[in-house]
Amino acid sequence: MRTLLLSLLLAAPAFAAAPPPAPHPGAEIYQNVCQACHMANAGGGVGAGRIPALAGNRNLAVAGYPVTVVTGGKGAMPWFRGALSDQEIADVINYVRSHFGNKYKDKVTAAIIAEQGIPAPKGGER
Ligand code: HEC
Repeated sequence: MRTLLLSLLLAAPAFAAAPPPAPHPGAEIYQNVCQACHMANAGGGVGAGRIPALAGNRNLAVAGYPVTVVTGGKGAMPWFRGALSDQEIADVINYVRSHFGNKYKDKVTAAIIAEQGIPAPKGGER
């Protein structure tokens, strides 16, 4: 018993020194790009029009819906095709679909964005 305790104590610093888990690759994109409208807690709000909450949002259940909205825009929501890479769009969609109370496990990939996303408009900017 004493040996077990000792080895646990000796092992502890190794745990403490382990690096923290890497942040989700979509988290930074969310904070830099989406948060201004959808808010840090993804609760949405009222700004230039009504901004829907992404937290606990069942519209995110089928990945194709956020893929369409984020690539092509919708109402007062700008499109991000061209502004973000397909990989970044995939990362941020995976982030919101697996955070803020959303627990959708299937992932979108850059290939899915390339295939199913709305193409960037010709001439780039709106
Ligand atoms: C300029 C403000 C703005 C920014 C920035 C923005 N959104 Fe939106 N978003 C909106 C508005 C407004 C709507 C509602 C559009 C409508 O239904 O007419 C919306 C809708 C959505 C929806 C659909 C929600 C639903 O239930 O229908 C998703 C998903 C979404 N946004 C994700 C994102 C993500 C991810 C980002 C960052 C890449 C982002 N948004 C950045 C304003 C914004």
